[in-house]
Amino acid sequence: MKPKILVTREIFDEVLDFLGQHLDVESNQADIALTPEQLRERLADKDGVMCALTDRIDAVLVNGCPRLKAVCNVAVGYNNVDVAACTSRGIAVTNTPGVLDETTADLVWALMLATARRLTEAEAYLRHGEWTGWYLKQLLGVDVHHATLGIIGMGRIGQVIARRASGFEMEVIYHNRSPLPAQTEGRLRARYASMDELLSRADFVVLQVPYSPATHHLIGACELAKMKPSAILINAARGGIVDDAALIDALKRGTIAAAGLDVFENEPKLDPGFLALKNVVLAPHIGSSTRVTRLAMAMTAARNLVAVMTGAVPPNLVNSK
Ligand code: DGY
Repeated sequence: MKPKILVTREIFDEVLDFLGQHLDVESNQADIALTPEQLRERLADKDGVMCALTDRIDAVLVNGCPRLKAVCNVAVGYNNVDVAACTSRGIAVTNTPGVLDETTADLVWALMLATARRLTEAEAYLRHGEWTGWYLKQLLGVDVHHATLGIIGMGRIGQVIARRASGFEMEVIYHNRSPLPAQTEGRLRARYASMDELLSRADFVVLQVPYSPATHHLIGACELAKMKPSAILINAARGGIVDDAALIDALKRGTIAAAGLDVFENEPKLDPGFLALKNVVLAPHIGSSTRVTRLAMAMTAARNLVAVMTGAVPPNLVNSK
């Protein structure tokens, strides 16, 4: 008998085919989000789950699923999973690192360029028929080239973002738990800075840390106050790293110039305060959303799941069982 697994959201046919070769698959191709109760019911007799970052895999859930041996998240972040609870039950937890770095970095750059050049505001102006002709001071933005880029969290994605900055001849500073090796800094032309220096110097502050209790509201009123009035904040990492209410207040009062956001504290609910602001570019958590990358993420999660179900060590294990 093949191990029984649940795929909580719609996935690509080729991934479903791969899983079906090895496992007894129940999938949710209708893509109707499961409530916590439905998830618990459907997982009660399963050996593994391939889940999305929108599924809460908490202690209550895993304790109600006696057969569960693998939780394979289709995301690099896994703050939706109670890893400690899984570990204590001997459940393997996996993620999808690496395959989304370039695509997510592209989206960060899209947000930087769109906020700096007021692109969504300009488009709305056109769509609303407000354009009556060219004039000198129309929709003045700020330059990205030769500006200072400050990256908080210099892991894989942070480094890819930094690499792209050389094309714009930017100065790159970064803050991290620990400085990168000198050789990597040299290759990226990036310099380590304290959090205070980064916040006060950077024209673009890009957040690229994972979400955890330690990074909850890493950027709040106090940090926003340290940024330049001309600075732009970019968050395509996780909601909750930024205190959304404090950010809305700073954007309203002009204590920072603008923000480009792909993630929000209570997503998919958006604080209505954002919608009233012109100096914010908003996206619905699409950082990794290209076909190639989302397929690679799903396939990575599927390989992890098949590995655990067949007794092998999964390539992207985040806990030690
Ligand atoms: C991740 O993988 O954590 C991303 O947020 C999904 O795009």
